[in-house]
Amino acid sequence: MTLGSLSEYSQFLKKLTRRVGDFLIKGNHNRKTVQYKGVVDLVTQYDTQSQTFIVREIERRYPEHGILSEENVAKNTKSGMKWIVDPLDGTTNFAHGLPIWSVSIALEYNGRIVAGVVYDPTREELFSAESGNGAYLNNSRISVSQTGELDKALLVTGFPYDIRKNKDNNIDNFKKFALCSQAVRRLGSAALDLCYTASGRFDGYWEYRLSPWDQAAGMLILQEAGGKITDFQGGQFSIYGDQVLATNGLIHKQMVHVLRH
Ligand code: IPD
Ligand code: CA
Ligand code: CA
Repeated sequence: MTLGSLSEYSQFLKKLTRRVGDFLIKGNHNRKTVQYKGVVDLVTQYDTQSQTFIVREIERRYPEHGILSEENVAKNTKSGMKWIVDPLDGTTNFAHGLPIWSVSIALEYNGRIVAGVVYDPTREELFSAESGNGAYLNNSRISVSQTGELDKALLVTGFPYDIRKNKDNNIDNFKKFALCSQAVRRLGSAALDLCYTASGRFDGYWEYRLSPWDQAAGMLILQEAGGKITDFQGGQFSIYGDQVLATNGLIHKQMVHVLRH
């Protein structure tokens, strides 16, 4: 199967994420039914309803494409195309009424991410990218920051859901970066962390043990905004891997140095 028109996929993604975002915004004022996937890993009825809507729309429009979505949807086809979906990134925030969450969808073609959208309905901020065509926040082109020294950099990170059980829980790295950067934040939506790094609000972002849906769209947006993304050693990044280091490029080596020691 050939790839087809990237702008057609992008238009589809933008409309879809906006519709889902509007639904979630309305739901945000209602009572949430919270279930636990792990000790601190939540899912609400809105995660599943958002996913049901997204999967139905993708299947209606592109029945021959594959889908990988967080709440147990994995449909493989021979088309080479796969939609990678996080129906609600930042569920813990959403469940607590903290307005930092997003909807993230990417299109993978033969193992390469070719289009991605991350939508934050609270602020009506839609981040998007198509491979080779730059990254955008709504209709404006975005690019990474120019901060060249770690000492002056505003960083963001996250902690894995097995934080209580796994000693590789990022707390040591958090301490190290807190002492050598301007400041470190923890927002709670990996997709937005990547987009905020892409748009220069943050200078660098690192995290352990994310899933493909947390980072597929954000990775492309970051790269198309001129950023650099690798594992903690500065080696090749994969959305299926377990380390992400995303920066403006200028502070990348300095962050690798801290992560190595
Ligand atoms: C989570 C968020 C969070 C990150 C977690 C993710 P979810 O996604 O992106 O920032 O630290 O590792 O799992 O569960 O809210 O979709
Ligand atoms: Ca997520
Ligand atoms: Ca999610």
